[in-house]
Amino acid sequence: MEIFLDTVNLDEIALYEDFIDGVTTNPSLLAGINSNAVRELLQKICKSVSGPVSIEVISEKYEDMLVEGREIAKINNNVCVKLPCTFDGLRVCRKLSSEGISTNLTLCFSPTQALLAAACGATYISPFAGRLDDVGQDGMSLVEETVDIFDVQGCETRVLVASVRNVQHVIQAALCGADAITVPPAVLKQCFIHPLTDKGLEIFKKDWKKKMQQTRA
Ligand code: G3P
Repeated sequence: MEIFLDTVNLDEIALYEDFIDGVTTNPSLLAGINSNAVRELLQKICKSVSGPVSIEVISEKYEDMLVEGREIAKINNNVCVKLPCTFDGLRVCRKLSSEGISTNLTLCFSPTQALLAAACGATYISPFAGRLDDVGQDGMSLVEETVDIFDVQGCETRVLVASVRNVQHVIQAALCGADAITVPPAVLKQCFIHPLTDKGLEIFKKDWKKKMQQTRA
């Protein structure tokens, strides 16, 4: 399962560079960045990882989205153009995919949106697990259904679990066979920190120190 970091923070990308295969961004993550500095930041992000960097269009209409998507694709050769699972977004996906541009269909909340994204040649589909949980639905069941449908249908589109809120989402995504997951830095940190690991290390050091003292005595 590919692991992407859901951030625009270069320090966080550098900190976790050994664990991640790429980066995903979205307009909300970029909201606080001066508009004149966004393209430069995105270029730095693209150069900071060898894997895909998802960058989302803002436009909503077909023609505007198509122009913007082609422009975004020029930022770097590892850009994956993020498009919403809307009527126009799916149609633009079909067009950009036919031009060899990598696409990530985002804001996916149903298996049929995922199926249409695959039909339109999407590279990735991003089912938003956390936001479904937020409204009392079972976000991971959407992921599981999508993985199963893609397996049965032989879809090449990769399931990229998004809107991840906790370690359980990571575990369930891995168990159900998702191809990729994008995690906020805080969730990635929860994936390797465990109090018993820290406690066990302290005990090893204490016992080793005691042994060394006995040896010297
Ligand atoms: O960036 C895509 C997705 O992971 C964001 O989800 O719900 O945390 O804003 P959310």
